[in-house]
Amino acid sequence: MAEGKVPVVAEAHEVDTFHPPQKMLEKHPSKPHIGSMEEYQQLYKESITQPNQFWGRMARELLTWQTDFKTVHSGSLEGGDNAWFLEGQLNASYNCVDRHAIKDPNKVAIIYEADEPSDGRTLTYGELLREVSKTAWALKQMGVRKGDTVAIYLPMIPEAVIAFLAISRIGAIHSVVFAGFSADSLRDRVIDAKSKVVITTDEGKRGGKLIGTKKIVDDALKQCPDVSHVLVYKRTGADVPWTAGRDYWWHEEVEKWPSYIAPEPMNSEDPLFLLYTSGSTGKPKGVMHTTGGYLLGAAMTGKYVFDIHDGDRYFCGGDVGWITGHTYVVYAPLLLGVSTVVFEGLLKRAGDDFVKSKMSKLRVLGSVGEPIAAEVWKWYFEVVGREECHIVDTYWQTETGSNVITPLAGVTPTKPGSASLPFFGIEPAIIDPVSGDEIHGNDVEGVLAFKQAWPSMARTVYGAHKRYMDTYLNVYKGYYFTGDGAGRDHEGFYWIRGRVDDVVNVSGHRLSTAEIEAALIEHHAVGEAAVVGVTDELTGQAVNAFVALRDANENVEALRKELILQVRKSIGPFAAPKAVFIVPDLPKTRSGKIMRRILRKILAGEEDQLGDTSTLSDPSVVQKIIGTVQESR
Ligand code: WT7
Repeated sequence: MAEGKVPVVAEAHEVDTFHPPQKMLEKHPSKPHIGSMEEYQQLYKESITQPNQFWGRMARELLTWQTDFKTVHSGSLEGGDNAWFLEGQLNASYNCVDRHAIKDPNKVAIIYEADEPSDGRTLTYGELLREVSKTAWALKQMGVRKGDTVAIYLPMIPEAVIAFLAISRIGAIHSVVFAGFSADSLRDRVIDAKSKVVITTDEGKRGGKLIGTKKIVDDALKQCPDVSHVLVYKRTGADVPWTAGRDYWWHEEVEKWPSYIAPEPMNSEDPLFLLYTSGSTGKPKGVMHTTGGYLLGAAMTGKYVFDIHDGDRYFCGGDVGWITGHTYVVYAPLLLGVSTVVFEGLLKRAGDDFVKSKMSKLRVLGSVGEPIAAEVWKWYFEVVGREECHIVDTYWQTETGSNVITPLAGVTPTKPGSASLPFFGIEPAIIDPVSGDEIHGNDVEGVLAFKQAWPSMARTVYGAHKRYMDTYLNVYKGYYFTGDGAGRDHEGFYWIRGRVDDVVNVSGHRLSTAEIEAALIEHHAVGEAAVVGVTDELTGQAVNAFVALRDANENVEALRKELILQVRKSIGPFAAPKAVFIVPDLPKTRSGKIMRRILRKILAGEEDQLGDTSTLSDPSVVQKIIGTVQESR
């Protein structure tokens, strides 16, 4: 655990409880899938006391299996060997596409809202089946086989969804890299995942701005000799560099092939995808999700958390480069056979008028990624939702695969700022981080862990199972450790307090301080660097960096700019520090450990509450840092 960061204690004041608005319930011809809190409690109890019966029933109800499973669950949190629905076989793309296309090929699957509205279009389930099949053929032709990894570096266009499903159709593993990552980050992820093929566009478009995706891929691949093919979708028609024999145009390749290819039968535990996320050490982790369990988590939370019904139109603003896009733009809605919106633009640019325009059919508004402040919650409820929508503040992680603590739309009463109650099969525990003991009862604070395995939990970190064990399962034996601080109030509602490790969350993008520090140190002028996350009104947290130089005679202003560029280049623009403080030295213990706690306090203006600084090797640096920070304000 990170030094000195203890979860804050809950303020003991009464908070308002909101019930699902009557109007929300009246808007839909169907009733919520769960009829009442009593029904939730009953099902929840079954999911905890008879998990095999519960999950077995759900898996057969929500997914289509080519071969039925016999064993619902094996393994344990202690052993790190959890496996679900053994002997069962299924295919993700069959479950997302074929079974709906067979029933109604004309049903809309994808509504593409392009950056320029005139570029928008829709795809039906029938069309999706054809596009996915043709693309699957093209990938096969490039030598992609069952178990191979294919990298996706695509903006928010329908072809991203097609690519996910084409890869899974032939039993390959997708590894999506967010198209805001730099060439260096893409390179690292392609190499770590051993991707053979990369799928990209000539350029991307977002908020009127162009992103040179193909050029970034070319830069990245200079150091990836194992990538044999690049499949390029023409998004803007820009003139892009081309490597003959390696690069192929999507529109030329895909049209060569028949419009149907049979889905590859996959074992439930075969990997479906890798998704890289930051941990508290520098190297990103390739979180691995498997087929049966992940798909069940996506389908179940789509159905019960967002209360998706057949015929619904559904929009999730997440990018496919992050877990939110995987689970709630692609898999959940398509598994349930509804229409999902692929949104290319920038919602922020649309402004308040867009939000205030009448969205009369809107019933459920979700929130994710960071603790939501009560005022923001109220704006969301009153302005965006016009008091006619149920707000569901969903807590989860890349590693949990789907929502784990969350209200169920139409059912669970909510309190602004609380993710409320556990989803089915999730048994939360609040643990005392000092003693490592579980704290029972209500009105308690500590760190959040889960006591039981659930189907959509990550199975490993690709190529680093020990790291998986040490990060999640060995911290508190017999528990899955989330890395978040949390409180459980007098009614058993959960309040997520934020990370207790060195992970920063900027606009829902998870970054590790160590990763940014490593980028800063790459600059020749930097001797040492320390990065901390500070609360930010707009982005949740913002990155602030402290650097000590090798040589004091640097031009500080110019250097600051170079350092910001350095981070943009080695990680991506979204990781750029909002502030860089050049200081004579960093606060270090005698053993050389940087005390980031002190930097956080100084940034928060709490210089008078620095706590014990006696272990610092040179306590006088603190005053100098305070001086630098104050000067810059
Ligand atoms: C971390 C996971 C899960 C999709 C987005 C981020 C924070 C997530 C909430 C919430 C408070 C939240 C946690 C978590 N977080 N949802 N509703 N309330 N905090 O996924 O990049 O894997 O980050 O996001 O700190 O550990 P991620």
